[in-house]
Amino acid sequence: PLFRTMFGLSELEEKIRRHFDLKQVVIVPGDSEASPRTKRELGRAGCQALRKALGKDDVVAVTGGSTLAQVANQFSSPTPLKSNWFVPARGGLGESLDYQANTIASTMAKRTGAQYRLLHVPDHLGEEAYLSLMQEPNVREIVEVIRSARIVVHGIGDAMVMARRRRVDDSVVEALKADGALAEAFGYYFDRNGSVVHKMLTAGLRLEDIMTTEVVIAVAGGRSKAEAIAAVMKFGHDDVLVTDEAAAKEIAALI
Ligand code: BG6
Repeated sequence: PLFRTMFGLSELEEKIRRHFDLKQVVIVPGDSEASPRTKRELGRAGCQALRKALGKDDVVAVTGGSTLAQVANQFSSPTPLKSNWFVPARGGLGESLDYQANTIASTMAKRTGAQYRLLHVPDHLGEEAYLSLMQEPNVREIVEVIRSARIVVHGIGDAMVMARRRRVDDSVVEALKADGALAEAFGYYFDRNGSVVHKMLTAGLRLEDIMTTEVVIAVAGGRSKAEAIAAVMKFGHDDVLVTDEAAAKEIAALI
């Protein structure tokens, strides 16, 4: 379309795609931090990217967050997705209900006639709690479904913003700062080189699962998230990035 060429967004998409060796980059015009309309557009573009990747019998794992909530609230399908499953990528991360991965997964399934399963456990677990929860057949079963996901759709946040939003312990916040945590995605924290700082046991998707997931789609925008987005792209396991013009221009200036 004409407006894309006018703003040169296609060139920007290609520059970012090439730099991070992604399969696809989609940029919506505007700044989703400043404009609710742009945030909705970002969500809509996320829906399109997911629909393009989605096949029969696929399991889709989704994270939480306000951006993914925009994806979920606009997700639709021309035909019911009876053979698809939507599951949360991670357990409870201390987010408000609207932003929880469980809520996002069930909304997406209900809107499209797909199926869903929820994970009702806190995300970060001590070793003892983790081992005993994994003995529970119900928990084990859903965890196996989550880890079998062919598609992951996730948001990206600034590390300190996310740590505060999740009311992470002060000691952990200090450790994150000391380790240079800059970005957060799917419950993990990354430094500017895309290295994971601060690993923890989780009932949800582990790093090794994300590394082998066939299609990983990131949906994140807003000028202030540029460095965080670039850090997660350096981690190098995303296939598709859906972002906005404000973040994309900053990212392009960094690379
Ligand atoms: C979280 C996701 O729930 O939302 C993270 O688990 C992401 O992957 C975060 O960093 C982003 O939130 P928002 O509200 O900025 O879209």
